[in-house]
Order: sequence, then C-alpha cells, then structure tokens
Amino acid sequence: MNACIRAVVRTALYYHAEVMGIVRGYEGMIDDNFIELNHQSVSNIIHLGGTILKSARSERFRTSDGMKVAAANLHKHGIEGVVVIGGNGSFTGAVEFRRYCSIPFIGCPATIDNDLAGTDTTIGYDTALNTVIAAVDKLRATAESHNRIFIVEVMGRDAGVLTLNSGIGVGAEGILIPESDNAIQNLLERIEHGRKEKVSKIIMVAEGGIDGGAHAVYTRIKEKFPQSEVRLTVLGHMQRGGAPSCMERVNAARMGFGAVEALLQGKSGVMLGIKDKEICYVPFEIALKIIPAPDKDMVKMMGVLS
Ligand code: F6P
Repeated sequence: MNACIRAVVRTALYYHAEVMGIVRGYEGMIDDNFIELNHQSVSNIIHLGGTILKSARSERFRTSDGMKVAAANLHKHGIEGVVVIGGNGSFTGAVEFRRYCSIPFIGCPATIDNDLAGTDTTIGYDTALNTVIAAVDKLRATAESHNRIFIVEVMGRDAGVLTLNSGIGVGAEGILIPESDNAIQNLLERIEHGRKEKVSKIIMVAEGGIDGGAHAVYTRIKEKFPQSEVRLTVLGHMQRGGAPSCMERVNAARMGFGAVEALLQGKSGVMLGIKDKEICYVPFEIALKIIPAPDKDMVKMMGVLS
C-alpha cells in the first residue's frame, strides 16, 4: 500500500493539488486524524509492507452517526476527492457513505485475497503469494526428512485463489479451496490411492475452504490414516507482511497514479483495476458483487499435477 500512497501523493502534487492522509482509514475520518502529506512524507517507503497511514476495521463507520461525523470532517478540511486503498470492507463503506457525502471516491484494490471482480490483481496479492511459497518451501525440509504430512492453512477469506496459486507454486500434493466440490473427499482418496513412494505431503487449505478449516482437514486425515505423522501449520498474518514484490510496487504505483488522474477527470464511485495489463474503472458495486472464480484449467491442473 505504501507504493500506492507514494504514487497518489506525488501525482497529486504534480497536478498542483494538496494532499492529506487520513490515519487509520475510516476510523481517522471519524476521529479527525488528517495529516498533510508532501513529497518528502512519502520518501523511502516504496519498499515497506503495510501502510504508513495505518489501517483499521472501523465498526463506527458502519453506523450513520459515524458516517455523518466523517462527512463533516472531510468538508471541514476542504477535501474534494478521496482515494480509498482497500478491499471489500473499504469499498462497501464507500458505497454506503454516498448517502451522507457526495465527495468523489476512487478505490485502489488492496487485499491479499485478490477477491475483487474486474481486476486481475490487487495490491498485496503477489507479495503474499511469494511469502506463502517461501514459508512452505521451508516446511518441505521437515516434511521430506520426517516423512510427514503438513496441512498448511492459507488466508484468503472466502476466496481460494491465493491458496490455489501458491499451492501450484510449491508443488503441493493437495489443495483445498472453497471453489472445489468434494475437495476433502477427493483429497482423502488421492492420499489413499496415490503414489505410495511419496510419503511426505504438503496439503494447502484455504481458510474458507472447508467447514472447520485446516483443523478439520487435519482431523479427517488423522482419522483415516492413523499411522501417518500429520502436522498443522497456520501461516496467519505473516502472509500480510514482507517487502512488496517488484510487480506489486509497479502495479500499486500505476493504481495510485491512475486514481488521482481519475479524480481529476471527474470520475467517482469506481475501483481502478488492472485488466489484461490495462487500467480499467470498475463501479464499486460490480467489484464487490462476485468473487472471481479461479480459472477452470488451473483447478483441473491442480488435480493433475499434485
Ligand atoms: O481480507 C484480508 C484478510 O487477510 C483475509 O485473508 C483474512 O481472512 C482476514 O483479512 C483477517 O482479518 P484480520 O486481520 O482482521 O484478522
């Protein structure tokens, strides 16, 4: 997100606009936590994960009282356009907020889940993929040396794309994602009838992949194969850290740059996405509507290669 913030600030300054950062997102909008940002404020941040502006899941912004205060604060500071860097929650908030405030909003998609429609990628996704594969590559050593089955839980909320792609990237023996039917049953059968010489296994499980999550998968495998040594690793929030990949920095910069240009062109209520390498504008409602389904060929390939 820092690469995006940097691009927003510097692009706005280039076009002679003043820029304020809102600390902790919608929470800061309500708490009047606005800070002036200049060229120097965003120096030396492009390589840092997270956000220098900090973030929050704001419960108060879900209430009409909270939204009214936020709107009053935006007007107080003379804000004429807002760039929201976030995912589902942030864009849902932006849509609701229209009932209280007519200041234009442009969204830059930022979530490791890559679950917004109309964009091929979201800020955080590529880095998270690389973080996951780096972690799982390390687990391989123990899995292989000790002949163990490792169940690895990957984030992604209700979407399986982070698990699917990182699973293919690590050569996982099993990948369970919400978008696959009978995933656990198929997995148990594959373990039972699969290659016997390959005792160690990496099974990647999306956090929303199956009722009960990775713990349930662990239990089912333990029950069915009591002789196997099974271990469970939940990667958790480490997936949201780390130095952003180059692709991520470039995409985030394009999005921040594009968001400011979009505001200056009078656009509003849209998420700025990157589709087939081109910048595109997706109404928030469409971006939020459906979780993009993983490519069918990829799902088939996952079964063939594992
Ligand atoms: O939406 C991003 C995400 O990291 C999901 O993958 C995960 O389910 C959730 O956020 C975790 O949220 P929190 O940091 O609030 O626990």
